[in-house]
Amino acid sequence: MRILLTGGAGYIGSHTYVALCAAGHTAVILDNFSNAAPSVPERLAQITGTVPAVETGDVRDADFVRRVLKDHEIDAVIHFAAKKAVGESTQKPLEYFDHNIGGFVTLTRAMAELGIFKLVFSSSATVYGEPDQLPITETATRGHTNPYGMTKLVCEEMIEAMSAADPRWICGVLRYFNPVGADESAMIGEDPKDIPNNLMPYIAKVAAGELPEVQVFGDDYQTEDGTGVRDYIHVSDLAQGHVLSLEALERDGTGHVVNLGTGQGVSVLEMINAYSEACGRPLPYKIAPRRAGDIAACYADPSLAKEVLGFSATKTLQDMCDSSWAWLQYSKTV
Ligand SMILES: NC(=O)c1ccc[n+]([C@@H]2O[C@H](COP(=O)([O-])OP(=O)(O)OC[C@H]3O[C@@H](n4cnc5c(N)ncnc54)[C@H](O)[C@@H]3O)[C@@H](O)[C@H]2O)c1
Repeated sequence: MRILLTGGAGYIGSHTYVALCAAGHTAVILDNFSNAAPSVPERLAQITGTVPAVETGDVRDADFVRRVLKDHEIDAVIHFAAKKAVGESTQKPLEYFDHNIGGFVTLTRAMAELGIFKLVFSSSATVYGEPDQLPITETATRGHTNPYGMTKLVCEEMIEAMSAADPRWICGVLRYFNPVGADESAMIGEDPKDIPNNLMPYIAKVAAGELPEVQVFGDDYQTEDGTGVRDYIHVSDLAQGHVLSLEALERDGTGHVVNLGTGQGVSVLEMINAYSEACGRPLPYKIAPRRAGDIAACYADPSLAKEVLGFSATKTLQDMCDSSWAWLQYSKTV
């Protein structure tokens, strides 16, 4: 298949590019490089041995998107391009509606005009809002707690409406849990520009000596060690989930909505310990009060992805931390 990756130079998109090449597909990257380094395509070429076709531009630019879809004779699209900072979304909701919802509408309209109806969409466990069950199955109640989450939920609902109105649409909705880690080459990974909100990039900055200690927000939750529990998934496993999703759309001719997680909850302290192991020294941490809005635990029921896509995560927590640390060493050199 010839696949367009919007946001393909970003964290998850670049890993998916590697996985698609390994599976023998042809992938084209569309990105405005607002949150990706200009050197990513060159590094992807070194990892895969094929120079990626890159189209630099904005997914909200209809003429540009139509031209790219046509020129590259695209069969299917994986739509990653979006803004993703939850905190920022509460301050600049219109920016989020514009990029995440506006971009989605522009893209899917262009696809429909050109007769391209296979779409894989980057959704998120955030569509479960405050989860009302554990582990979380795909039938759990959906909701949102911030404008970023709202954009993901709206796009999911648009996919449902589009598919109901026109059965030619065959869409895979992938609800990611917490993607972490980096490619085994250590040449691509997550590169947060500011102080990260998410645990693993925060720990990585402490390990690199850029932040003094890990703040552990709350140690009195109803969990095994009292700290918050999340479902972390290695980004290379996640990338493979996209390959399987595309192949399932092609094979089954029907869409799917699945969780991509491991099904295993990992606590903050477990993560700090595993990262300490990876970087070879105990990482300092301090217990701080709970953060408003945080929940005790959140992890997926991954069984539907296994049934529908044949997907299961293979990498361990230690793999996630080791690969993140290796990427951190490499990233200092580029
Ligand atoms: N990383 C996570 O924790 C996580 C979790 C759940 C869902 N997601 C979703 O997965 C997708 C990819 O996330 P990521 O972590 O790789 O983010 P990322 O920021 O690394 O990648 C997004 C890419 O899209 C590009 N982009 C943004 N707006 C664009 C626009 N208007 N036009 C063209 N390109 C644009 C950016 O330059 C970047 O390269 C996003 O839709 C995100 O919401 C991410």
